[in-house]
Amino acid sequence: VQAPVLLGKTFTITAGPTREPLDPVRYISNHSSGKMGFALAKAALELGATVNLISGPVSLSAPEGATLFPIETARDMLNSALQLAPQSDVFIGCAAVADYRAATIAEHKIKKQGDEITLTMVKNPDVIAHVAALKENRPYTVGFAAETQDIQQYAKAKLKNKNLDMICANDVSVKGLGFNANDNALSLFWSDDCLNLPTTSKQQLAMQVMHALSKRLN
Ligand code: C5P
Repeated sequence: VQAPVLLGKTFTITAGPTREPLDPVRYISNHSSGKMGFALAKAALELGATVNLISGPVSLSAPEGATLFPIETARDMLNSALQLAPQSDVFIGCAAVADYRAATIAEHKIKKQGDEITLTMVKNPDVIAHVAALKENRPYTVGFAAETQDIQQYAKAKLKNKNLDMICANDVSVKGLGFNANDNALSLFWSDDCLNLPTTSKQQLAMQVMHALSKRLN
């Protein structure tokens, strides 16, 4: 049994992909499984925290005790995040948010046309950057970075540019790790420190992340 080191703390965690509609039957999304975000939620609960889980469409069931806020689009996620973050001690952005959405959502199913069609996309809001920019009741804000090269450099740049307190970086170019996998390896960065967590199950890693985090909160 774990000591309840997060007792009294409220976490809001984003997980999974977002789904950006093109028309009533089609969408753009990505392969995020939600496993890492759900593992973080479970670990936080086991350590005594209260957990809000804002999740895109995934095939996992929420850990018992978590309050699930199901969303589809990045803009839905932003709305939920901005409602929950000010009442949270910690915000963790683990979701794979679509960077762009269709500029317009067709009211009716887009008809088959010529050999090429063009889709105009516009930038989605950066959910975690909005949370980190809160002027009042800003939670301790933790991001994720999936990189395929120069992990440390890119992760540290994101830590700074998005005004995060901590970032968890993983190398998604390694086969069997990251997206959709059960195992992962993470490097944690703060402005003044770093910690390498070698390959293990996402559930084990989630617990290690929570312990590293709890030391920072106290
Ligand atoms: O910039 P990049 O997408 O690599 O940053 C990843 C981090 O930012 C993750 O914590 C992710 O959940 C968050 N993010 C977000 N909203 C976006 C894009 C990324 O919250 N539109």
